[in-house]
Amino acid sequence: MKGIILAGGTGSRLFPITLAVSKQLLPIYDKPMVYYPLSTLMLAGIRDILLISTPADLPAFERLLGDGSRYGVRMSYAPQPRPEGLAQAMLIGREHIGDDASCLILGDNIFHGPGLSDLLESAARKAEGGRASVFGYWVDDPGRYGVAEVDSSGRCLSIEEKPARPKSNYAVTGIYFYPKGVSDIAATITPSARGELEITTLNQRYLDAGTLDIELLGRGFAWLDTGTVDSLADASSYIAAIEKRQGLQIACVEGIAYARGWIGADRLREIAATMPATSYGRHLLRLAETAPSTNPLKQL
Ligand code: DAU
Repeated sequence: MKGIILAGGTGSRLFPITLAVSKQLLPIYDKPMVYYPLSTLMLAGIRDILLISTPADLPAFERLLGDGSRYGVRMSYAPQPRPEGLAQAMLIGREHIGDDASCLILGDNIFHGPGLSDLLESAARKAEGGRASVFGYWVDDPGRYGVAEVDSSGRCLSIEEKPARPKSNYAVTGIYFYPKGVSDIAATITPSARGELEITTLNQRYLDAGTLDIELLGRGFAWLDTGTVDSLADASSYIAAIEKRQGLQIACVEGIAYARGWIGADRLREIAATMPATSYGRHLLRLAETAPSTNPLKQL
């Protein structure tokens, strides 16, 4: 199973904040935004990850995440010269995906909730068995997103991109699991009226073939938006409130790697030593003193 983080785009809805910095490197409370989707892939058990961004922003991501060995994964990088659509990630990532199933996550999507890793691991297994999965989340303003129509048995009936008259309140979130061969299917998509290779069109191909499942995330989940200055600030407040209440970290990539046995306590201590002044660093130190098996992985 291969992972892809798509972290390009112009960030124009956040100008002037994003005039010189990639949106996905902005802080969400105490860590860079991209840590959140990266940790989500890691919770799905995915360790081979391609990050796609603009040619200008890619070096900053490489500086931040390196080769991934610090947190037990393998990172590689590829440019997307122009924001020509989310489905283009599956073309840029063709070589990376090879003959495997894959998971695409948008670099600005934040997921937090009970049993997330079980849900993700189950979607990963289904993708390996030939079925695609998307995740639906009830929102008040579905017309801003891909919208899924779901019947009473939880079957997906239709998906539409930013419909004027949404058929439901279920937004299709920015994480997608696909069986092997997704790049071939993405290659058959033509640009939409807005000039993009739409992820919704790719999902419709699987829907038409009868190989798309939708998993609805319950109201106990948080799927946070970071598209506007207000939602960016709200996302930071949400993470701050929960981290301070629990004294735990959300999206702590080194912590997840440790809990999964991908790195050892010595490595954790080394990394913690580079950031002694922060609660993040102190959290790593505390983790290093506990056995990985007793770590509250699901709360990381
Ligand atoms: O967040 C979930 C939604 O993401 C889905 O419900 C929609 O179906 C899907 O089309 C997408 O909608 P958005 O309107 O949020 O897409 P946006 O163009 O804002 O791109 C999402 C992120 O991906 C954003 O951070 C920029 C980045 N991006 C976007 C495009 C089009 C790229 O890195 N490359 C691209 O080519």
